[in-house]
Amino acid sequence: MRVAVVGSGYVGLVAGACFADLGHDVIVVDNDQLKLAALKRGEVPIHEKFLPELLHRHRASRLTFSDDLDGAVRASAVIFIAVGTPPTEDGEADLSYVESVARSVSSAINGYKVVVEKSTVPVFTSEWVRKIILRNGAEAEAFDVASNPEFLREGTAVTDFLYADRIVIGADAPHCAAVLREVYAPLVDGSYYKRPDAIPRPDNAQIPPPLIVTSAKSAELIKHASNAFLAMKISFINAVASVCESVGANVQQVCQGIGTDSRIGPRFLNPGVGYGGSCFPKDLMAFRAVARDSGYDFRLLDEVMRINEEQRHRFIRKVRSALWTLRGKKLGVLGLAFKGGTDDIRESPAILLIRSLLQEGCQISAYDPAARERAQEVLNSSVSFAEDAYDAARDADALLILTEWEEFASLDLTRLRGELKYPIIIDGRNLYDPEVMSANGFTYYSVGRPAVSPELTATGISEPHPRKSTHS
Ligand code: UGA
Repeated sequence: MRVAVVGSGYVGLVAGACFADLGHDVIVVDNDQLKLAALKRGEVPIHEKFLPELLHRHRASRLTFSDDLDGAVRASAVIFIAVGTPPTEDGEADLSYVESVARSVSSAINGYKVVVEKSTVPVFTSEWVRKIILRNGAEAEAFDVASNPEFLREGTAVTDFLYADRIVIGADAPHCAAVLREVYAPLVDGSYYKRPDAIPRPDNAQIPPPLIVTSAKSAELIKHASNAFLAMKISFINAVASVCESVGANVQQVCQGIGTDSRIGPRFLNPGVGYGGSCFPKDLMAFRAVARDSGYDFRLLDEVMRINEEQRHRFIRKVRSALWTLRGKKLGVLGLAFKGGTDDIRESPAILLIRSLLQEGCQISAYDPAARERAQEVLNSSVSFAEDAYDAARDADALLILTEWEEFASLDLTRLRGELKYPIIIDGRNLYDPEVMSANGFTYYSVGRPAVSPELTATGISEPHPRKSTHS
């Protein structure tokens, strides 16, 4: 099929590359000339596994890049809108980019088109897109608008797309749903997975993915409700972790106990410094605003956001309880990205925490395997950037782990201890077993688990978290 994808951000670029891998002819449209030039040269603007392979495989053949939206609309049967929907000051999604694409689509329509919202948008957006296209002159029979939310995670975006848990098509007209079924046919009929050059199947992927066809409004809500539920799961376990700290229980054991209930499931139950990224914080605010505008006061979402913010304050208090005073302390920091496997620092808890620690007068030496360049653009010159984890730890009063990169979970502990001025680790991602850390000579603080230190372990007791200083 001939497909246009408008917007070459995470969602648009990954979707475009994956549609090409399914066998479609894809034009990715963007108005950022620098980005387009880089893509045409074969550069990959984001750190995303398998994306370089797919771009290399299809660039200049089945996958082209253009700034000509009209031309792309005329050449395509399906137009996916994947432009940004940043938050406005009151938390609503700013849909002006979506509206502007809808206007351009209208003037270029030259035959039946399916216009698909791929960006995360509030309920009623498909109705608005339809109205805008009509208002700008297109005939009602010349197009349909559908919602096809994307559930990919950064870092694993390509495999999430091709090995999705489900594909949701929100279409109010049967013909429109049929067109989208055709787009996804290689995944839903399983033929993609039989190809020798298919992107490798990740563990636990169910193939073929189920296709769920709903109304456009339901599909729009599925996306917001999914992200809100996942964020709620994280805030829930972070709140449980706080209770664990107060009573001296171990949140890891609690997670095992609750996550094995198949109704709850073990995923997204990792406590830490809170969720970040370009999606959860923005989508929760937008969903909250949607609910408010429709007359429902969704206060549960306020609480999810409050717990998330509080999680960062707790972490700072933990650093203070480990080091007493902060002014002048030299801290090694592992992690700048909002999570492991990505170079994205948008709403990254690590960046927010570094800013707070700088305000407290700390000196920071930070290391991240991918996000250094982006972090350098937003952090002031008082942060120095290290070459690796050991370099970050060198002569530091303590080492903080703020992002769950795999490589941070398998450090040479003897070497690390040798680099640090004091063997103190404050792990905001629970990457290590406290017993192993104390056996290796570290005083180790984590989230929702008792702190340990070598002296206390030798006597067979673990150090309770100082209740006053960590209690909210
Ligand atoms: C999220 C959703 O997981 C995707 O399904 C969705 O498509 C995407 O948003 C989107 O709306 O575009 P993403 O933002 O890439 O994906 O990242 P996640 O893997 O969901 O992680 C979000 C944040 O939660 C990270 O800061 C991560 O460190 C944190 N997290 C995640 C936890 O603190 N604990 C967990 O157990 C899981």
